Amino acid sequence: MPAANTSRAYGSVHRFLHWTIAVLILSAIALGLYAESFRAGGAQTLARMVEVFSIHKTVGITVLFLALARIVWVLVQGHPRPLHPERRLENFVASTVHWALYGGMVLMPLAGWLLHSAAPGGGFADILWPFGQRLPGVPQDAELSERFTAFHVNGWWLLAGLIALHIGGALKHTIIDRDATLARMAGNAALVPEPPRHPHRHRWLPPLVALALWGGLATWAATTERAPEAILEQASQQAPASVAPAETAASAWTVQSGTLGLSVTQAGVPVEGQFGTWTATIAYDEATGTGEVMAEVNIASLTLGAVSGMATGPDFLNAQAFPAARFEGQIARTTEGGTAHQATGTLTIAGQAQPATLPFDLTIEGDQPTAKGTLTLDRRDFGVGATYADESTVAFPVVVTIDLMATRG
Ligand code: HEM
Ligand code: HEM
Repeated sequence: MPAANTSRAYGSVHRFLHWTIAVLILSAIALGLYAESFRAGGAQTLARMVEVFSIHKTVGITVLFLALARIVWVLVQGHPRPLHPERRLENFVASTVHWALYGGMVLMPLAGWLLHSAAPGGGFADILWPFGQRLPGVPQDAELSERFTAFHVNGWWLLAGLIALHIGGALKHTIIDRDATLARMAGNAALVPEPPRHPHRHRWLPPLVALALWGGLATWAATTERAPEAILEQASQQAPASVAPAETAASAWTVQSGTLGLSVTQAGVPVEGQFGTWTATIAYDEATGTGEVMAEVNIASLTLGAVSGMATGPDFLNAQAFPAARFEGQIARTTEGGTAHQATGTLTIAGQAQPATLPFDLTIEGDQPTAKGTLTLDRRDFGVGATYADESTVAFPVVVTIDLMATRG
């Protein structure tokens, strides 16, 4: 099979790019939806979600580069001639879908990369490659990231619709027309007849319609609002699933915003930082002052002065081996009718589970509960920084502060 395209059939390079990109795009869609499905799962799923999103992003970036290579190849090579030049409507639809598919091949991964680049706090899950994570020149701006997200999470519907039309077309040619359309992309090019010569008309219309489709989506995405809790890439606005245990009258809370802070003393100087990404699932019964909490924290999302990399590296929190920390506990009011509460349960950091009690103050104004608390841990209990056995570099106590604002229901 020749590498180059001819007037009759696609060459091996073009076929390779077509089928590889097709498989990768379908995988990216499946991975994106699969990763999203972890949102509803509550705790213990964050680490898995990060993993799947990293694969999703890496597959998507691969599509972007292959698509750019394909565009260059098509510009150099041209296409085989249409098999039925006289069928003007069919050619118009096919050509429009092809142009729009090219648009999707580039714009979908690009929007993904842009939303990842613009996300404050470093993006939620890394692209699995040694090169940079961010596209240069993209400002870290939550609002901007949200716009690209709106384009991306709706754009896949357009792309999937185009793919469905495209596959439908291929099947029509194979089953109804029984012509050589599929053969010249997939089968034996030697069997493909030389298509008749025919002047092309309206060659500008299909790219224009394709542009209108993606441009329309971009305009909509630039102006639409998206519920903050549905935005994944952004810090504490992480989509928190909420659960209400059936046996209590507890109501489920959705954490809307907040900070999860950390303070350590390094070489005698306090360094403060915070985790960008975490989920908290809270169910609380006001009458009894009891409830349950589950929280999961993405370790890699820690920013800690100039030492974020070191803190999340193998000597300390080891984000690679232990991507998430987790707290699961029971909430109890500690002063009758007062705001003082505590959550007693198990805290798992760097794979080490320890009992922990977090005292916090809970105030409820209208439908807006606010929780503030501080917990001092000893890093040695979790084997964190074991090679730093004295306090001259990093002190043993680590102060964790939480400050959450939720809404009921
Ligand atoms: C999932 C992603 C897919 C994308 C993005 C895609 C994209 C494209 C594009 C842009 C073309 C126009 C020719 C070119 O410049 O490459 C094309 C041609 C073609 N595709 Fe796909 N395709 C996909 C999947 C499929 C599948 C699953 C089938 C088979 C069922 C298929 C069958 C064909 C055939 C037969 C042609 C040749 C049409 C002709 O000769 O006029 N494609 N594809
Ligand atoms: C061919 C390329 C790609 C396709 C077809 C694709 C498709 C998808 C789909 C179907 C979803 C789930 C949407 C939903 O649940 O409504 C998704 C989400 C997401 N994708 Fe992609 N994606 C691609 C490339 C990328 C790339 C390259 C990145 C980043 C580098 C990326 C980052 C994301 C992120 C962060 C989300 C979650 C957005 C949110 O819900 O806040 N994607 N993508």
